Amino acid sequence: MPIILGICSAARKRWADPFAVFIHAPYYFLPRRRSFDNMSCGRFRVLRTPPYLFPEGTVLDMTRYDFDSRIDRRGTSCEKWDDLGHFFGREDILPFWVADMDFRSAPEIIDALRAQVALGIFGYPTEYTEKYKAAVAYWESHRHGWDISPDEVGFMPGVVTGMSAAINEFTSPGDGVVIQPPVYPPFFREVRHNGRKVVENPLLETEDGYVMDFEHLKDVLKPNVTALLLCSPHNPTSRVWKTEELKTLGEICAERDVFVISDEIHQDLVYSDAKHVPLAKACPELASRLVTLAAPSKTFNIAGLRASAWIASDAKVAQRMHQALFRFHIAGINMMGLAALEAAYTKCEPWLDELLAYLEQSRDFVESFLRDRLPRVRMKHPEGTYIFWLDFRDYGMKNSEITDILVSRARVGLNDGSAFGVQGEGFVRLNIGCPFSQLEEGLNRIASEFGSR
Ligand SMILES: Cc1ncc(COP(=O)(O)O)c(C=O)c1O
Repeated sequence: MPIILGICSAARKRWADPFAVFIHAPYYFLPRRRSFDNMSCGRFRVLRTPPYLFPEGTVLDMTRYDFDSRIDRRGTSCEKWDDLGHFFGREDILPFWVADMDFRSAPEIIDALRAQVALGIFGYPTEYTEKYKAAVAYWESHRHGWDISPDEVGFMPGVVTGMSAAINEFTSPGDGVVIQPPVYPPFFREVRHNGRKVVENPLLETEDGYVMDFEHLKDVLKPNVTALLLCSPHNPTSRVWKTEELKTLGEICAERDVFVISDEIHQDLVYSDAKHVPLAKACPELASRLVTLAAPSKTFNIAGLRASAWIASDAKVAQRMHQALFRFHIAGINMMGLAALEAAYTKCEPWLDELLAYLEQSRDFVESFLRDRLPRVRMKHPEGTYIFWLDFRDYGMKNSEITDILVSRARVGLNDGSAFGVQGEGFVRLNIGCPFSQLEEGLNRIASEFGSR
């Protein structure tokens, strides 16, 4: 029987908020006590217990999921840890690069996968995916206030797969496709792989963060430029675009008859001071020129299961998108991915809320660490994603020198900013999706090499 120890603000949405305190005693606190040191560094949501119930000073950890344990992923066929030698030239470094997290996924997802494994039959997945489409529609409506019908949803293994198929389907060879660097490297690659030309509309760097350059966009949208790839929220700048920005972008694209491929893979990873707005919701008039790509992969740390979705409200766009994928027999998801996607979108919201609270504390920690220990490394306030864009330009070094110091001396692996476009000269990308102790260790290592320069 759960014992309710304290209730402060029922109005707060996130139950992990320090004031919204429901404790189901046997489940939450007995196995996991924390020290006052932890409490004082502000990492844990804790409550002093009423003295008549527990010895004075008992500290309760009200987190339900374990994001603190450092799990050994080496030798598990994972890119982040097993490819360190290939990518950075040495194995003995801490990884803060490729965008997956070192957290175990939500228990409900693991249970769904376990049920498939227990059966031990891994035949063809169903072709009649209505209930999985309904799960995507439920999530978009419930989490993002975007009301879509399951008929508007289709599947593919990865968001980059969908991006490539959409470029191929909705533009012609030789066309220009706009991207807004610095941006996730496959944005460049998929345009080129499909025989199209990259047209850059670089983001503008302002005091308050990165913004889209709408005037420059109008200039580059010549008649042979037929599509734009949007990254929303934006990797690597951690911007979460506001409704007004999305509306302006959508209006320009609608007016110039430009097809938009909106990569919203990071849609759920948004901090409490920002809100993700789907482009389709901000700009419904764009529907006949828009496909949205989304996935539970980043959100629930299941990228290896290859489960992603596209959404198109316009029936013609939806039919063409399906055909574009079907042509290469990639218009679907493997059976483990289907099971995980359904569990994620229908059962795992509490896990996500707690993850976000955890990551937000890590974000705040990174900001204060940079201020105190690495003042020459700058970072715009991250509004979303767990990958942050660190500006080392003050050191006046080439990216190769920065990376060399990070890898060979600090022994940490971060993404070299130059992979995100020429705008990434002097930058590296830090992945904070790991236990706090690992993040702290990594930052300390960086500070030991760069802090006194
Ligand atoms: C913006 C963006 N799109 C797509 C992907 C990868 O998607 P997938 O693995 O589903 O192809 C990533 C991964 O980091 C990403 O950041």
